[in-house]
Amino acid sequence: MKILITGSNGMLGTDLVDLFKSKKISLYPNLEVIEAPHGVLDITLEDNVLDFISTHAPDIIVNCAAFTNVDKCETEREAAFNVNALGPKYIAAAAKKCGARIIHISTDFVFDGNGNRPYKEDDPTCPLSEYGMTKLEGEKNIPRHCDSYLIVRTSWLFGHHGTNFAAKMVELAEHNKELSVVTDETGSPTYTADLAGALLALIEQKCEGIVNVSNDGSCSRYEWAKYIFETTGYEIKINPIKSSEYKRPAKVPLNSTLDCQKLTTITGMRMRSWKEAVASYLKEQ
Ligand SMILES: NC(=O)c1ccc[n+]([C@@H]2O[C@H](COP(=O)([O-])OP(=O)(O)OC[C@H]3O[C@@H](n4cnc5c(N)ncnc54)[C@H](OP(=O)(O)O)[C@@H]3O)[C@@H](O)[C@H]2O)c1
Repeated sequence: MKILITGSNGMLGTDLVDLFKSKKISLYPNLEVIEAPHGVLDITLEDNVLDFISTHAPDIIVNCAAFTNVDKCETEREAAFNVNALGPKYIAAAAKKCGARIIHISTDFVFDGNGNRPYKEDDPTCPLSEYGMTKLEGEKNIPRHCDSYLIVRTSWLFGHHGTNFAAKMVELAEHNKELSVVTDETGSPTYTADLAGALLALIEQKCEGIVNVSNDGSCSRYEWAKYIFETTGYEIKINPIKSSEYKRPAKVPLNSTLDCQKLTTITGMRMRSWKEAVASYLKEQ
């Protein structure tokens, strides 16, 4: 069994490689992990993608590579489209040629966030930002170009190997006595280590289609920050503000919580709560 991971030096990619290389995987004792960090494989180069994938002939490809800076996507539209929309197309076409299955990672930002309940996999998409639009186009390119695929939508990632909201809050708390955080943006913080575990479970079930994966429960950015400061003991005043008061280039969904019932139905697993996940992350820091 060979598994190839693109974007393997990113926040999720690193945890996924660590999990697959750990001894925890008894189901695939002869698992070979092929790491394809950005410096080794640029997914926007069609010929290189085909060459690399044909040479390694993996059974499974997990695409963790993406242009993830949501605000930068607004000004670097072509670059974002190349990575988030065309990259998945090239990987899917190459996967089809060598008979590999592709697991593609997508986002809650494919939704507009106007709903008043968690989003299910088949709810209508309507991205508000360039990031969301390019990621949605990437999703659509997967079934267009290969037969065997799984798209996993996740949300509000945090982990030890990349820039994220939790890390930023801790960093800001070290240098500030007061912060303003948005109260009307709601979602499910998701620990990349937990997401990696869920991806493994989905791979084992040979699951196809679209599946949502996030830590259980939801909160506002304000509640998330408050929990981080309570858990770490930082004494910092948090001023609640509306998202309209927080000026940023990209428009983001106000409620992008994902309904993860399908994950539970397929794998029998239920993700632990976002609070437990955040507490583990902070303890491990
Ligand atoms: N972060 C979140 O909050 C969040 C939420 C929902 C969904 N997601 C999705 O989850 C997945 C993993 O996200 P993440 O947070 O782990 O992102 P990340 O830390 O930014 O990792 C993305 C990786 O992709 C690489 N990359 C960028 N352009 C590339 C290219 N042209 N070819 C190959 N690799 C390239 C980056 O390498 P360099 O850094 O060297 O450029 C980086 O290693 C992505 O699909 C993302 O859209 C993320």
